[in-house]
Amino acid sequence: MNIGFIGAGNMANAIIKGYFPNKKSNNIWAYDILSEKLSELKQSGVIVTNDINELVSNSDYLFLSIKPQNISDVLNDIKNIINKDTVIVSIAAGITSDYIKTSLGYDAKVVLVMPNTPLLLGEGATALAQVSPTSKDEFDFVCDIFKSSGKIGIIPFDKMNEIIPINGSSPAFIYEFAKYFVEYAKDCEINENVALNLFSQTLIGSAKMLTNSGYSIDELIDMVSSKGGTTIEGLKSFRQNDIENTIKEACKVTTNRAYELSK
Ligand SMILES: NC(=O)c1ccc[n+]([C@@H]2O[C@H](COP(=O)([O-])OP(=O)(O)OC[C@H]3O[C@@H](n4cnc5c(N)ncnc54)[C@H](OP(=O)(O)O)[C@@H]3O)[C@@H](O)[C@H]2O)c1
Repeated sequence: MNIGFIGAGNMANAIIKGYFPNKKSNNIWAYDILSEKLSELKQSGVIVTNDINELVSNSDYLFLSIKPQNISDVLNDIKNIINKDTVIVSIAAGITSDYIKTSLGYDAKVVLVMPNTPLLLGEGATALAQVSPTSKDEFDFVCDIFKSSGKIGIIPFDKMNEIIPINGSSPAFIYEFAKYFVEYAKDCEINENVALNLFSQTLIGSAKMLTNSGYSIDELIDMVSSKGGTTIEGLKSFRQNDIENTIKEACKVTTNRAYELSK
């Protein structure tokens, strides 16, 4: 199977390196308007081209790994050259399968994907949706690509915008959270790196408790919040400052922005 990437930026690099970590990739093609983006990929065996027609006509699976703002131009460029059996894999936030099909002018095979940047370290969390007429085998093939760089979750195609705050944007939300914990430690004259390492390991450990301990989220919160203790006071402060609505509102505006991008 030949896999082509239009747009050789951060995400395309992470997906390619995750799928082919140690071996030469002789069936991966990449095209980017900036040819300098292609040189590193070329060294790892990716077939690079400055001709979008060559890439599209050679791809059984075509990744649209460009910004949402560039999707319209790219779909316009490829609509007369794409083979109707090619599976189009879009990782662009907010771009719907209907938009892709309408722009191409036929009932294209589409897989919608929302990855995240931890994919760069092989620790991605990627949401995928199968869109008819893509077959189960074709969808599984795309799922396997993302499984090689982390974990995946399968969701309905009409929930792609709702999943963005959960996995696509949430790394930034978590970094923002981390920033203020570390700043607090610094204000208390604790070494910044020591605090960052402790907080980061706490994120890893807490994530493992969420997925592997068998306890619910509420049980895990209760386990750390004994009556009259320290944690309960911090939690009270979070709740008095309405952390629930702060987070839900941030999720809502993230999703809303994806709907705006799809217009
Ligand atoms: N980064 C994330 O956390 C994340 C998470 C989930 C999903 N995504 C999605 O992943 C996609 C790619 O993100 P990224 O961070 O990898 O972006 P990126 O690093 O900017 O990569 C996109 C590349 O495509 C190039 N490009 C622009 N127009 C093109 C065209 N017409 N033909 C070919 N190449 C073109 C860009 O060049 P220029 O720089 O000159 O424009 C750039 O080199 C986006 O749609 C984003 O929504 C990103």
